[in-house]
Amino acid sequence: MNIFTFQDYYKNEVQLTFNDHGFISDPRHVLVICRYKEQWLLTRHSRRGLEFPGGKVEAGELPDDAAVREVWEETGAGLASIEWLGQYKVTGKAEVIYKNVYFARVEELIPKEDYMETLGPVLSRELPADLKNNASFSFLMRDDVIPYCLTELKQRNWT
Ligand code: GTP
Repeated sequence: MNIFTFQDYYKNEVQLTFNDHGFISDPRHVLVICRYKEQWLLTRHSRRGLEFPGGKVEAGELPDDAAVREVWEETGAGLASIEWLGQYKVTGKAEVIYKNVYFARVEELIPKEDYMETLGPVLSRELPADLKNNASFSFLMRDDVIPYCLTELKQRNWT
């Protein structure tokens, strides 16, 4: 299995793989890289800053369903398609978390009253090249997960 190993923003070890569910079949966290009309669709988390939508899988929920739900809750996006892309493991001080990464194409963006713990959708033509040093972005966007995923998307001709 091909694994990329690096540190996150808080110096925790992260392992990332694009091998099908390489670490675990049912991770409890999801992150969804969203594309809408040649733009990236992000959400502005009220504490963490800009990030791709995602969050925790609820009890009894499948990770793939959690991915669709989190995108809707945090951005109001309805999806045309969603594909599993990769998976990463973060070895934190208190716990180890596993997260599925998906790639989604957005069909429509519906304005809502409430975006849960976020301030709602933000569209961006380009992600900054120096994401790691950009304080507008959430810590989870500021390690090597996003650059590796963007490279993988290009290699697959998905973007
Ligand atoms: P909420 O406040 O309910 O969102 O949960 P939490 O603060 O307990 O965090 P969560 O259970 O989502 O994650 C536990 C810890 O794992 C967090 O404090 C982070 O340090 C880490 N973590 C979660 N998601 C990511 C991620 O995408 N990347 C990295 N590097 N760490 C993450």
